[in-house]
Amino acid sequence: MASVTFDKATRCFANMDHPAVCELDLEIADGEFMVLVGPSGCGKSTSLRMLAGLEDVDSGTIRIGDRDVTHLPPKDRDIAMVFQNYALYPHMTAADNMGFALKIAKMRKEEARRRVAEAAGILGLDDYLDRKPKSLSGGQRQRVAMGRAIVREPQVFLMDEPLSNLDAKLRVQTRTQIASLQRRLGTTTVYVTHDQVEALTMGDRVAVMKDGVLQQVGTPKEVFARPANAFVGGFIGSPAMNLFRLALTADGTELGGLVLPMPRAALQAAHAEGAAEVTVGIRPEQFGVLSTGDLQTPGLEVVIDTVEDTGAVTYLHTTAKVGQELAQVVVRAPGRGTYGKGKHLRIAPRAEGVHLFSATTGLRLPAAEAPA
Ligand SMILES: Nc1ncnc2c1ncn2[C@@H]1O[C@H](COP(=O)(O)OP(=O)(O)OP(=O)(O)O)[C@@H](O)[C@H]1O
Ligand SMILES: [Mg+2]
Repeated sequence: MASVTFDKATRCFANMDHPAVCELDLEIADGEFMVLVGPSGCGKSTSLRMLAGLEDVDSGTIRIGDRDVTHLPPKDRDIAMVFQNYALYPHMTAADNMGFALKIAKMRKEEARRRVAEAAGILGLDDYLDRKPKSLSGGQRQRVAMGRAIVREPQVFLMDEPLSNLDAKLRVQTRTQIASLQRRLGTTTVYVTHDQVEALTMGDRVAVMKDGVLQQVGTPKEVFARPANAFVGGFIGSPAMNLFRLALTADGTELGGLVLPMPRAALQAAHAEGAAEVTVGIRPEQFGVLSTGDLQTPGLEVVIDTVEDTGAVTYLHTTAKVGQELAQVVVRAPGRGTYGKGKHLRIAPRAEGVHLFSATTGLRLPAAEAPA
């Protein structure tokens, strides 16, 4: 097993106006499950392919443990990759598919058979080893693809959206299985997905990318609770964080008549940039709906457009007048409420649920004074 280090790793394609992967700095600890997540085209697969040796590195280095692998061919890197389309050989049985790489590597037959049997046991595939891919379910095929990686006992697993061909229910089950399997094997894993829920539930840490640039690395808790910028705030979490661009006042800002005081450090940082506005982020679950009788508590007036009642919770899609404009606001409320289209509500955010970002750079504004 080994750690993985991207050190200013860059990949440029001629047809693009920015690098597909730009000076990526990322340290993945030995045994860690790291998820690369971000919207389509942000450079996740390219990063993974650079680590696999399937894509050139134009500048910077990549290390596995203390070996510089930047220019090593894929076969010398001691990695195993699981792709989105499992690419199983249709004419081979599950067992032969799993053992194929070992056969190519001229491993002794008994040892190869032992490894395939062991992987099949781990993956619950014992009864399917003689079947060809076409008579396996999607989930079973996915597990054969996993098995093919496991038998190689590599230093690092690389997985590129391995669950995207499965239906929603199977995807949720398999995601738990992969995460617990990885913990059991303790093999360093880099996992790519565009699905932020998958990222948050599977990763020890999550690396969020946008336009080839790493935005933030942290535990799921960290990136959710303290997004480093407005993009991460809006990308991580479902439904998405409400983001508002609001005028900066002397002591904070106002959301449609609702005064939002800002910590002194944030205010100073925003004023220091000479900004006239601030970006405020509030997650749907951080709004409370004020009761009709409660006219003492200041609130934001919203009108309900649509009601999405999932049973346990209700998402209210609403419109509010914010400054001179109308803004869409998503609010989470308890399920089975008496909400209807056109109804007026007053809502207020919890103080700790207000995220402040620079309207200029998008970066999170400091909440506390920087130590002198
Ligand atoms: N071989 C290539 N030649 C030219 N451009 C490429 C090549 N491979 C990738 N790109 C471009 O590089 C950018 C990053 O692609 P990449 O496949 O890494 O994105 P991704 O984050 O994996 O997206 P997705 O979630 O859609 O799989 C995209 O703009 C893509 O069009
Ligand atoms: Mg991809």
